Order: sequence, then structure tokens, then C-alpha cells
Amino acid sequence: MSLKQTTAILQNKNALNCVAQRASSWWSGVQMGPPDAILGVTEAFKRDQNPNKINLGVGAYRDDNGKPYVLPSVKAAEEQVKSKGLDKEYAPISGVAEFCKRSIELALGENSSVIKEGLNATVQGISGTGSLRIGGAFLNGFFPGNKTVYLPTPTWGNHIPIFKHSGLDVKMYKYYNPETCGLDFQGALDDISKIPEKSIILLHACAHNPTGVDPTKEQWKELSEVIKKRNLYVFFDMAYQGFATGNVDNDAFALRYFVDQGHRVALAQSFAKNMGLYGERAGAFTVIGNTKEEADKVMSQIKILIRPMYSNPPINGARIVAEILSDPSLRNQWLPEVKGMADRIISVRTKLRENLKKEGSTRNWEHITNQIGMFCFTGMKPDQVEKLIKEHSVYLTKDGRISMAGVTSKNVEYLARAMHLSTK
Ligand SMILES: Cc1ncc(COP(=O)(O)O)c(C=O)c1O
Repeated sequence: MSLKQTTAILQNKNALNCVAQRASSWWSGVQMGPPDAILGVTEAFKRDQNPNKINLGVGAYRDDNGKPYVLPSVKAAEEQVKSKGLDKEYAPISGVAEFCKRSIELALGENSSVIKEGLNATVQGISGTGSLRIGGAFLNGFFPGNKTVYLPTPTWGNHIPIFKHSGLDVKMYKYYNPETCGLDFQGALDDISKIPEKSIILLHACAHNPTGVDPTKEQWKELSEVIKKRNLYVFFDMAYQGFATGNVDNDAFALRYFVDQGHRVALAQSFAKNMGLYGERAGAFTVIGNTKEEADKVMSQIKILIRPMYSNPPINGARIVAEILSDPSLRNQWLPEVKGMADRIISVRTKLRENLKKEGSTRNWEHITNQIGMFCFTGMKPDQVEKLIKEHSVYLTKDGRISMAGVTSKNVEYLARAMHLSTK
């Protein structure tokens, strides 16, 4: 072999080594991340062989047979949409127009002066999460005050990463009292009245997740007053309209009251729970401005934020929502279906309490029926939660939250016994 040939072979080998070395080193610094706190519960549940196992981790509604529920009004709306033979062209950046119009009407009420005067900038979001994320991005880009969002303690686990990921600072205010398993109203008022002026405060509009603890109407009024005095900007997260009391107007009380009091709020909405459209990802984000011109300018900037993120939202779920909300007969079919879901949850709360008593539990479980919406914050300590999972195959998040939607007339006795045995 000539010297030239040998050199060429060596150079080739070196180049290959170099490529191999570089290729193997791109991601070598990536550490294994922890599993998602809620979705990790489902994974563990799936692996469990116990025939009595119950998954109370994930917040998705189940019927009384423990099965996912597709609302009949949704099935009918889907058929109706199908029969229109619509095309599959892109939606505008801001989403399906009829969906946006109907969503904000559902939230604020059809006679809302805000809507009549065109003060709302409403876009379709990727369900509640995506709507909150767009809201975070907008506030980070344009909020003229202190770019810190104050969240209740505790709050939905995803709120903190969503707002941090949006570039906002995150701080907390008192909300829940573990002693009473109820609202720490005084603590909330005290903390809120110390929040620096011109900051952002996030409020769960109804069915607070994870605690199931909502302020009363009178308490909402006081909160509105204090928040106004502190000149705070309110961001409502309304993921459960209709799911708390079974009535969409009742559940919008806080939002509508704040708007009536002159708060120019932001709002994230989700149709995952109240229409059972979890995987369709239908939601909306709204900013209310002082004038129509202001709302139009805000809208233009929100669209500029959306375009490089996902260009435009998915059309199918939005069309289903728009169909239900705009067709009076479908709407009248849907409303009792939401109530049916809320009522079933309320009834299993009562059954769970009764069965705990029957099992001989002497603990005060009043909060099970006092709390509202999809979740019950049981007050169980981490070692009790661990017992419930390990010894009884009842799966829940470490904070003691159970999804009442997973409790049925068939598993409630087993659950009560397991809770009693884990807490006595
Ligand atoms: C308080 C709260 N906000 C927002 C969401 C968003 O849900 P999704 O993105 O599925 O609409 C949830 C879902 O669990 C929630 O509990």
C-alpha cells in the first residue's frame, strides 16, 4: 500500500471516529426527568393486577360503570357537523370564529355588555392548558405592571410550569386550610392585600382543582373588593363551567361578578370536562379591554404570538362546541347532560361519606360533601396515601387528592373500606 493510500485510509477512519464521537455526545448530558405526577399514577395503575384496583388520579369523568363517557349531545353534534360536508382548510390563527363567539357568550352570558361593545379579544386555544399558555405569553410580552402571577396554595399542578415557561415569575397566596379541609378565607384576604400593586392574580372560577374548595358568593364579593383595592390584574381559569353545581350560569358567578365590578380580566376556558372533549383540545383565551380599539390591538398581538407556536388551532372540537352552543335543541340536550355529570359526582360524595361512617370511621369527613367539582382533597397524609395505593390498589396523587369522577356506586364501598383502613 502506498503512503498516499495509507494516509487516505487513516484520514477516513479519523473522520468516521470524529462523527461517531460527536453523534454519541449530543444528548449524553440529558438526565432522566421525573414522570408526570398525575399521568405517572395511571401508569402504576395499569401495571397493578388487583381486580379491585381503582384509578382516582386523573381528572376525567367516568360513568357509573367506570367507563369514559361521550355525551349524547356531542355525538349528535358530530353527526350534524359531518352532514354539512365542511372542508378541512386551516382555521384562522384565532380559531373557528363561531366557536370563539359562542365560548365567550357561555362564559359572560349572552347579554353581556362587554360582548355587545366588542371589548373582548377571544381566540381559540389548545384546550385550557393552551389557553393559559397563550395568556402567559401575552402577559409576559405586554403586561405593563409587575410580571409576577400569584397562584393559590395549592393549585393545579400544571399552573406553575405553564406560567414559568411563559417567562412570568410565580408566587403563591394562601387559599386552603388543611386543618378544616376548607377555605382559608382570612389567610387569602391577608395575603392578597399584601400582593404588590399591579401584579397578576390567578383565580379558579369554580370547582377549584385540587381542593374542591370554592369561595361563597359573599366571599367572592369581598375578594373582588380587595383585589380592586390592590389594583391587581385578574386571570380567571375556568376549566369546569357547569361541573361544580351542574349549572353553567351559577358556575360563572365569580367571573361575571368581577366583570360587572369593572375588573378587565383575562380568561382561559376549557371544554374538556363540561363537554367531555378531553382529547379534542377545545378551549378559549380572552382578554377584555377598555375599548373596542384596545381589544382589536390586543387581538392582533395575540395572533402574532400564536402564529410561530402552532400556527392555528384544530377545527374538529371547536366545530362540535360551536354546533352545541348555537343550535338551541343541542344546547338544551347538553345542559342536562352537564348537570347529570355534576349530580352523579355529588351523589357519590354522599355515598362515600355514608360508607366511611358505616365502616366505623370516626374521622370528620364532612369536607367530602362540602367540597365541589371533580376533586376531593381528602386530607390524607402521604403515609396514608401510600397505604391506600400499596395495600388496596387505590391510585391517587400524593397530595391526597381523589378524582370523584372515578368513584362509582360499584366501587364506593371498597373505596370507603380502603380509606378507613388506611386512616385509622
Ligand atoms: C384548573 C385547571 N385548569 C386548566 C385545566 C386544563 O385542562 P385541559 O388542557 O385539558 O383543557 C385543568 C385540567 O385538569 C384544570 O384542572
